[in-house]
Amino acid sequence: NKKQREILRSPIVCILGHVDTGKTTLLDKLRGTNVQGGEAGGITQQIGATYFPSQNIAVEIEKCNQHYPAELKAPGLLVIDTPGHESFSNLRTRGSSLCDFAILVIDLMHGLEQQTLESLNLLKMRKTPFVIALNKIDRTYDWKTEEFASSYISFKNQSKENKNDFNHRYNQIITQLAENSFNAALYWDNPDPKTYFPIVPTSGVTGEGIPDLLSVVIKYTSMYMKSRMVVKQDAFNCTVMEVKKIDGLGVTIDAILVDGTIRQDDKIVLLGFNGPIKTKIRALLTPYPMKEIRVKAEYEHHNFIHASMGIKISAPDLEEAVAGSQLYLANTNDEEQTAIDLVMSD
Ligand code: GTP
Ligand code: MG
Ligand code: NA
Repeated sequence: NKKQREILRSPIVCILGHVDTGKTTLLDKLRGTNVQGGEAGGITQQIGATYFPSQNIAVEIEKCNQHYPAELKAPGLLVIDTPGHESFSNLRTRGSSLCDFAILVIDLMHGLEQQTLESLNLLKMRKTPFVIALNKIDRTYDWKTEEFASSYISFKNQSKENKNDFNHRYNQIITQLAENSFNAALYWDNPDPKTYFPIVPTSGVTGEGIPDLLSVVIKYTSMYMKSRMVVKQDAFNCTVMEVKKIDGLGVTIDAILVDGTIRQDDKIVLLGFNGPIKTKIRALLTPYPMKEIRVKAEYEHHNFIHASMGIKISAPDLEEAVAGSQLYLANTNDEEQTAIDLVMSD
């Protein structure tokens, strides 16, 4: 039975937005980590990747079941964190080029900023569907917190004064979005989901709105990705993110496996500063689920990995690997020649 052998691919969701809007903090709250606290100056300087298994997501989206039921069919979500600082536009481009769906984070206190506009342009150019996280709702006047609650439910418990403050800021942002030709509306009050982008009020500090954000991501990715949800037997798409020396492993690469399957004994070809690198995987690793790949920690060893996943590869001769390049399989002579041609033309 062909159906039973189909392996579902996890959607890749990229987080974009202006510096310090709270992208990493939102992920930290969901992971139960403090990656942001370990960043120099609190500034993200690399692309990150975290895998969230469906069972962990299910616990959150359950909280929106009454007003916005969503069902997760994929094994999980692969979430890509990007830097918001203006000097990293290459990393935002790289991150967003891999994703099926995006979360654009806007600081409710600041509205649209320079890299918000840059991100909106990237998403428009690539026709990437996205949700807006309107973050830092806990900073509105007189906000009453209920840790990790659905923000739809939290809103019901706020004072009139809070509602006025929120609505004032919200309406300004809706106007700014409209000035840039984007229609958007609160996800629970969306007049036309086909033309209005959904907005989810969130707080990375209290976790409010995280259930709603995940519910919207799950609903929209299953709506947009139906045909792309299966790991294709003959497809392979893998991008190198970082080249890093790790104690005990030597020089390794962090990569995003976007489609296909990679195996522990695969031969691979990728771009090096002095021409193509041909090597053989020594160890195929991932961080543990809900852990950020860019934080050095323990790794899980695998014989094979299906997309989508953030992976770490240990192999000889990776010293000169070029971040941002494609990685190809080269298990046969034909594959190897094709891979070398592709690397040379990339
Ligand atoms: P870059 O990756 O450097 O672009 O920043 P970022 O978007 O990842 O933002 P980050 O998580 O570094 O948060 C920036 C600051 O905002 C930190 O001091 C956070 O504690 C704070 N912050 C983030 N989210 C919230 C929120 O929801 N409420 C409040 N009050 N503060 C927040
Ligand atoms: Mg960050
Ligand atoms: Na930051």
